[in-house]
Amino acid sequence: MPATFLPILNEVEKQSLHERQPLPEAYLGLSDEEMELRIGAARAALGDRVVILGHHYQRDEVVKFADYTGDSWKLSREIAKLPAADFIVFCGVHFMAESADILALPHQQVILPDLAAGCSMADMVAPDQLETCWAELEQMGVALSTMPVTYINSSATIKSFVGERGGTICTSGNAEATLRWSWDRKEKILFLPDQHLGRNTAWKMGVPLDRMVVWDPFEPFGGLTTQELDNARMILWKGHCSVHVRFTAKQIDMVRAQYPGVRVIVHPEVPFDVLRAADDSGSTEYILKQVREAAPGTTWAVGTEIHLVHRLAEEVAPEKTVISLDQVGCLCSTMFRVSPNHLLWILEGLLEGRVHNRVTVPDEQKKWARIALDRMLSIS
Ligand code: 13P
Ligand code: SF4
Repeated sequence: MPATFLPILNEVEKQSLHERQPLPEAYLGLSDEEMELRIGAARAALGDRVVILGHHYQRDEVVKFADYTGDSWKLSREIAKLPAADFIVFCGVHFMAESADILALPHQQVILPDLAAGCSMADMVAPDQLETCWAELEQMGVALSTMPVTYINSSATIKSFVGERGGTICTSGNAEATLRWSWDRKEKILFLPDQHLGRNTAWKMGVPLDRMVVWDPFEPFGGLTTQELDNARMILWKGHCSVHVRFTAKQIDMVRAQYPGVRVIVHPEVPFDVLRAADDSGSTEYILKQVREAAPGTTWAVGTEIHLVHRLAEEVAPEKTVISLDQVGCLCSTMFRVSPNHLLWILEGLLEGRVHNRVTVPDEQKKWARIALDRMLSIS
């Protein structure tokens, strides 16, 4: 039996309870040219001691300084290969920086340029809610036949909980392999916190919708009966991404009418009807690959965060056309918090021997979260 689950807040969780920290005055109101020059100079002076990772949703002015770009899966794997760097500057959101700290070597420090860069989906599963859920699944007699799986978009506390109970972590890049691994071991999966990624992946693997239930953490026993749980193969946590739920099947009808022959590709965090109406789906890295490798003359409507879509459109033009599925454009406001001003402050701080915004996961969470992440990395 796992030891009692302690909902200990780590540094990032504690910091995220506060308002966004102000940047020092000296880093406000700088011109783009000055920031570019100073970031470049600090980066060069730091050399191999620092590595900058950039998620695909980062702004252009930040991501252009990244040594590695990628989706959550690729960046997690990269971290395991970077022993030379003392500092990993993660331009992304805090669950990514936490995962980096868990996977980093003992001499490495992980930095998140703005500690207020969180993920609203990750916040949709609180440690006490998960503890209650698991206790209720035990009471209902289904916990023993259930594998807990969390999307990497979750806090270290949730990852630790899952790891301690034999479960694992998935990204949008390996979700199918993770579900297969889990069903090889247990009859059911408790999938946290994104119901859409869980439902879309299970459905693609042939699980009918009537074998999936949604666990509502605000209802006693998730709002479910024992019979509903007994019949379920997927227990989906009631969480979502506020960026990706804005895409609709109607938008797909509209782009198909406007651009005959268009290919529609979406991130699997979109709702089920959107996934069904699209031609293809996958992680941010997968989306980039599909469009880059597509035939000249093709047109693509992309359903994911707007910075990725804009950059991709510029990269493949004029050979191929890329538009956003949502004409207004879906912005991840937390990813956007990492600004070039923050990056400059971090890098010049390192040059002066000061580490700002270090993310550290406490050892008691690290142990089981690391086991869960290692399981993830071993499932391809
Ligand atoms: P990827 O792992 O596909 O990059 O997705 C991360 C994410 O947060 C999507 O919203
Ligand atoms: Fe979180 Fe959605 Fe932003 Fe991805 S796009 S980091 S899931 S809020």
